[in-house]
Amino acid sequence: MKKFTAILMLMAVYQIARAQTDEQKAAALVKKMTLEEKVGQMTQVTIAVIAQGGWGDTEGNIDPVALKNAVVNHGVGSILNVNAHGFTVDKWNEIITKIQDEAKNTRLKIPVVYGLDGMHGQTYTLNSTLFPQNLAMAATRNINLPIAAAKVTAKEQRASGVRWNFAPVLDCGRQPLWSRFPETYGEDVYIGKTMGAAAIKAYEEDGLKNPTAVASCMKHYLGYSNSRNGKDRTPIYMPEIEMREYYLPQFREAVKAGSSTIMINSGEINGVPVHADKYLLTDVLRTELGFQGVIVTDWEDIIRLHTRHNVAATPRQAVAMAINAGIDMSMVPSDFSFYDLLLEAVKLKEVPMSRIDDAVKRILTLKFKLGLFDNPYPEAAAKSNFGKSEYQTLALDAAHEAMTLLKNKNNVLPLSKNTKVLVAGPSAQSITALNGCWSYTWQGNNEQWYPADSKTILQTITDKAGAANVVTTTGKGFNNPLNYNVTALKRAADNVDVIVMCIGEDAYAESPGNTRDLALAEDQQELVKAAEMTGKPVILVLTEGRPRFITNIEPAASGILMTYWSGKKTAEAVADVLFGDYNPNGRLPFSYPKSMGEIVLYDRKPTEEVREVFNDNAGKGYDPLFEFGYGLSYTSFEYSNLQLSSNTLSGDAKLTVSVTVKNTGSRAGKHSVELYTRDMYASITPSMKRLRAFQKIELDAGESKVVTFTIDKNDLAFVNRQLKTVTEPGDFELMIGDKKATFIYQ
Ligand code: BGC
Repeated sequence: MKKFTAILMLMAVYQIARAQTDEQKAAALVKKMTLEEKVGQMTQVTIAVIAQGGWGDTEGNIDPVALKNAVVNHGVGSILNVNAHGFTVDKWNEIITKIQDEAKNTRLKIPVVYGLDGMHGQTYTLNSTLFPQNLAMAATRNINLPIAAAKVTAKEQRASGVRWNFAPVLDCGRQPLWSRFPETYGEDVYIGKTMGAAAIKAYEEDGLKNPTAVASCMKHYLGYSNSRNGKDRTPIYMPEIEMREYYLPQFREAVKAGSSTIMINSGEINGVPVHADKYLLTDVLRTELGFQGVIVTDWEDIIRLHTRHNVAATPRQAVAMAINAGIDMSMVPSDFSFYDLLLEAVKLKEVPMSRIDDAVKRILTLKFKLGLFDNPYPEAAAKSNFGKSEYQTLALDAAHEAMTLLKNKNNVLPLSKNTKVLVAGPSAQSITALNGCWSYTWQGNNEQWYPADSKTILQTITDKAGAANVVTTTGKGFNNPLNYNVTALKRAADNVDVIVMCIGEDAYAESPGNTRDLALAEDQQELVKAAEMTGKPVILVLTEGRPRFITNIEPAASGILMTYWSGKKTAEAVADVLFGDYNPNGRLPFSYPKSMGEIVLYDRKPTEEVREVFNDNAGKGYDPLFEFGYGLSYTSFEYSNLQLSSNTLSGDAKLTVSVTVKNTGSRAGKHSVELYTRDMYASITPSMKRLRAFQKIELDAGESKVVTFTIDKNDLAFVNRQLKTVTEPGDFELMIGDKKATFIYQ
């Protein structure tokens, strides 16, 4: 009987222990930790620190002595990255196993959380499935695609034994010069916050203990994309009203969506490096947005408060500044300087113990949430989720829907399959120019690491039209001199019906992608001009991470297809569109500018629209080459019967908006129906239009559908002079396609 009671009591204790939340477990563990162990948890180092030969290692060979030094002697909480290129699933499993084995040798056996960038698929695992970059995802206007892609990314990352994904990028792409523009969802706030939050839920919603989920990381908080000169990590000057209107909503939405972690902008805003900005990190992020998760720095960004930003007179001051501002974990990442300096700073009372305990509790909570304390090792169930064939289908679906047809003069497209085609231009035989950054390597520009079955545009066009109908003047690789041979191009054009000119940008990431100018490279312009001089119809295929000016080569081009960097299946999607096996439906997620002096975004203010000159240019302030939302189809859609449930919207009520969309052409097609509003008069100059909702539909030839949206006052709100998000009573205009309606908010 006694024994039985004891068992019952044990079970009760066990149940209480089980009933503890992850936060409670973390708090209990913090109480047992030494200062050294705590500071260790706040330290994140790169794989070079534990690799044989340090930065010289390219193959992920772990040095047992260095591993022990990091994990046991310094108790690091997290490790990240690769040195040179991605590894196989097996290699990752081996690396993670070694790290977690070592973690078992620590006093409290706290597992290590490994983090990797999986920006458009699991970047650093070889043969993972790469999807369109965020910019291209935004062009799809199909919310199901970023969701499905994020789920696959999570599975393939988790299959690699990695449970922390440094994605999604939530920076708003309002500066097209910026080299990380392709990682953004484009210039619109609504697309960014909707797709970003949807991706976050997809990464995390299974519950992080499930082997199909990973912790997401919203980044890069805040305003990173808005650098004044467009160069990566250069100063941002931004009034708070702009910050709150265009850059903060994505993070607010992402916090609500439940993102577990956040990474900070390496830059400075108004002279304050964000890593040292207590207002943004603690007052806004923690108190106002209510974010409870882990705040991690970006690469080396604490020491740079001293070495680059010059706001901290000493390295230790830099550490104290960042931790006191609200940072929980430092991506140091190359040494243990942060560990040593933070220990000193705490001992000297420059950082209070309460801040350390708070940070460590958040880090440990994440580890409990991720199930790392139950099983820190790569899971067999997770591994079996890698590389399923349906992921390839999804990658193709996403690439298809991203393709944005910008010009189709005299219906030059689609081409018939017996057209004689000259395939030219530097992207014709490049895989890297179709995938872009974060593709098996950081820069994505090394073809060696791409899956063997990756196709080039030349190959997919040849697959469609047959080798006998295809000629090319190109060679392998973007920079191959053959690609720029104008004489050969002219000669080859003699016997063809059409020239498919594949131009744009090769892969780049971060600072290596800095550019002085958005002009298309001169040698490419020359090539296009030569092609246009032949008199043959020229179709431009733009493999671009950001808009490059084509203003002087556009008029003579017959067709233009924007492909962005759409991942593994870009080439297949291009050929499907060119030959009519897929009806394009992507829509530009940014305004394609004509020139450097005329970069105006679609949600412009009224005075950006007006040019105070008495000539033809008056009123043409928004004059891009192609407008935000532009995108052609092989069929046509007509809008009718725009109806509002009421002409007045009161208080918190909802307004239902419906419109009939008809496919008036002769083939089936997908189409994004977009709802814009305009506040006619407001206390802060209102935008000319703002996107408030979109829905992707599919219609057979001749078919009609009624599309319904519901909006409320939050969809009409803006940030006022007091920095409050408000909706002011007054007149509004609502626009869907070419239809307009008005209503009053009261
Ligand atoms: C980038 C981050 C990335 C980190 C780790 C940094 O240079 O800015 O986006 O997550 O490296 O790879």
